[in-house]
Amino acid sequence: MIELIKTTADFIKSKISATPEVAIILGSGLGGLANKVEDAIAIAYKDIPNFPVSTVEGHSGKLIFGTLGGKNVVAMQGRFHYYEGYNMKEVTFPVRVMKMLGVKYLIVSNAAGGLNPNFKVGDIMLINDHINFFPENPLRGKNMEDFGPRFPDMSKVYNPELIKIAENIAKQENIALQKGVYIGSPGPTLETKAEYRLFRIFGADATGMSTVPEVIVAHHQGMKCFGLSVITNVSEPINPEEETTHEEVQNVAGIVQPKMTTIITKLIENI
Ligand code: HPA
Repeated sequence: MIELIKTTADFIKSKISATPEVAIILGSGLGGLANKVEDAIAIAYKDIPNFPVSTVEGHSGKLIFGTLGGKNVVAMQGRFHYYEGYNMKEVTFPVRVMKMLGVKYLIVSNAAGGLNPNFKVGDIMLINDHINFFPENPLRGKNMEDFGPRFPDMSKVYNPELIKIAENIAKQENIALQKGVYIGSPGPTLETKAEYRLFRIFGADATGMSTVPEVIVAHHQGMKCFGLSVITNVSEPINPEEETTHEEVQNVAGIVQPKMTTIITKLIENI
C-alpha cells in the first residue's frame, strides 16, 4: 500500500512546482471554488497512477493545484463515495497521497439531511464531531505506522482552532452558521423516517454519505480537519407529502455556494 501511495505522490510531484499546504474536497456547496484557484494545474484522476477509476460516466474527477487565500492548495473536484462501490481504502486513497505531498490541513464539504429540529433547508452546519455509521472503518487492517498510530485518539477530530476561526469569519461576514454532529452512513438510500429518528436519538444533527472516511484517515495521519455541511432537506417536521429528490439536494447546495466559498477562502487566508 505504501509503495502505491508513494508512486502516486512521486508522479504528482513531478507535475507540480509548489507543495500544497491545504487540501479541499469540493463536495456540495463548494464546487465553484475550483474556479477560484489561481495559477491552476489540473490533473485528471484517470491520468494519475493508482487512483480509483471513476464509475460515474461523464463525471471527470480531477485534482486542481494552485493558490487560494494566499496558500498553496490542492482541490479534489469529485470524491469517491462508498455507495458507488469503492472500498474504504479506495475512498481514502487520495487523502493518503495528500499527506505524502505535504498537506497539513483538510477541508471538506458535503450535502446532508438535517436531523436537528432547529435546522432549515439551506442552513450551513459547521461539523464539530462525527459518528461513523459506515459498516467499516478505513483504518481496519495492518496499521501504517509511518502515517499514524494503531489506536488514534478521536476526541478532537474537527480542529477546535479552525472552528473558532470559521465562527469569527461567519460573524464578520454576517453568515449564520449552525454547529453539530454529522453521522456518516453508507447510502445510497436516503433514510426512512424511522432511521432519521434513530440518528437523532444517537445524538446526530445531520446525516450524509461521505466525509467520515476521509476525515478519519486525515486525522490518523495528523492533518487538521475542518468540515461544513449544506442542509439540503430536513427530517423534522416529518411531512408525509414531502419526498427528497437528488435535484432538490443539488439546487440547495448551489444556492448556498457563495456563503460556503466565502467562509472557506477566508479560513484558508487565516490559517
Ligand atoms: N440523508 C443522507 N444523505 C443526504 C441527505 C439525507 O437526508 N441529504 C443529502 N445527503
